[in-house]
Amino acid sequence: MLDINKIRADFPILSKKVNGKPLVYFDNGATSQKPQVVIDAISKYYQEINANIHRGVHTLSQLATDAYEASRGKIQNHINAKFAHEVLFTSGTTHGINLVTNGFASILKPGDEVLVSALEHHSNIVPWQMLCEKTGAILRVIPMNQEGELIMSEYDKLLSDKTKVVTVNHISNALGTVNPIKYMIDEAHKFGAAVLIDGAQAVPHLKPDVQELDCDFYAFSGHKMCGPTGTGILYGKEAWLNKLPPYQGGGEMIKEVTFEKTTYAELPHKFEAGTPNIAGGIVLGTAVDYMNEIGFENIQNQELELLRYGTQRLLEIEGLKIFGTAKEKTSVISFNIEGIHPYDIGTIIDKLGIAVRTGHHCAQPIMNFFCIPGTIRASFAFYNTKEEIDVMVEAVKKAQLMLS
Ligand code: ALA
Repeated sequence: MLDINKIRADFPILSKKVNGKPLVYFDNGATSQKPQVVIDAISKYYQEINANIHRGVHTLSQLATDAYEASRGKIQNHINAKFAHEVLFTSGTTHGINLVTNGFASILKPGDEVLVSALEHHSNIVPWQMLCEKTGAILRVIPMNQEGELIMSEYDKLLSDKTKVVTVNHISNALGTVNPIKYMIDEAHKFGAAVLIDGAQAVPHLKPDVQELDCDFYAFSGHKMCGPTGTGILYGKEAWLNKLPPYQGGGEMIKEVTFEKTTYAELPHKFEAGTPNIAGGIVLGTAVDYMNEIGFENIQNQELELLRYGTQRLLEIEGLKIFGTAKEKTSVISFNIEGIHPYDIGTIIDKLGIAVRTGHHCAQPIMNFFCIPGTIRASFAFYNTKEEIDVMVEAVKKAQLMLS
């Protein structure tokens, strides 16, 4: 069992007041809060070893390079990648997905098909649409049911020799559905299609094993898993990363440059042009260490209990409907109250110190499916408590009274 009070003491922001009330932070799907060890590691980097990496013979540059590469190694172990050079530092999930779609522009042909799921965040829809416009490939959608689960029998029907890529999130940001990605990857591979997993909402809750999954790409952000903003990882299988052209040209991604021709550096540098977010990359390793110390089994137990309790308590409210009732779900509750706009509830409960996200959650197709403008989304992390859920439930009831 987790000692929640001890864990909460690691996060200075959790003892703050917002609008004069103790903060109840339930917007973890948007970004997680940061433990003191992560905040300190950022200052420590700038105070002690700040220098550009991979470029200098001087001591500080070597220290910074070693710390950056050590962090890459940590993340390699964390996701069980076969090689460290399959782990690319990015600015976040969106960057990772765009890196891949940019690469596929030189691979896809008119008539090829890209399968995208109905549960995607805009960042895993729009880059593929742009790619299809550029190449003449066709975007097809894997549909979902009323529970917010992808329909596997429809997926099976969509797969064919024309399928070149399947792209799907591990966990839906808007509904919390955990998708059957292992099945989807195995089925796609039977047709020779590459599979990209958007792991942005999964890595705060679980430890992905990219070799066991056998996915071709796995993209995620650091800021949702206790790390700094502007950090992320794209895992790609070596063979695919060698095949894809570089995303950006610039310093560090070259072997040799002349005005006639440039040759590219080996992995991972081929995809890491320019001075990266050095502090962020190093401190992402600190965040990964922190989460592993807490333990993902402990994290899951705590969050599933919050999901169970939060669902039960919220359903006590008359006229409240939960969107996303999949059998496999993580700690996200998206809901609406009959006759009241989600934004109005969100605004009132903010005045009571409660942070939730309201709106379409960058997943408009999901909202269109349910014929709603948006939802109120409470997304819990391992440092949240049942007492905080009670505070939210009372606040939502108060808002409902005021708005009815
Ligand atoms: N993708 C983030 C969310 O779901 C920002 O809130």
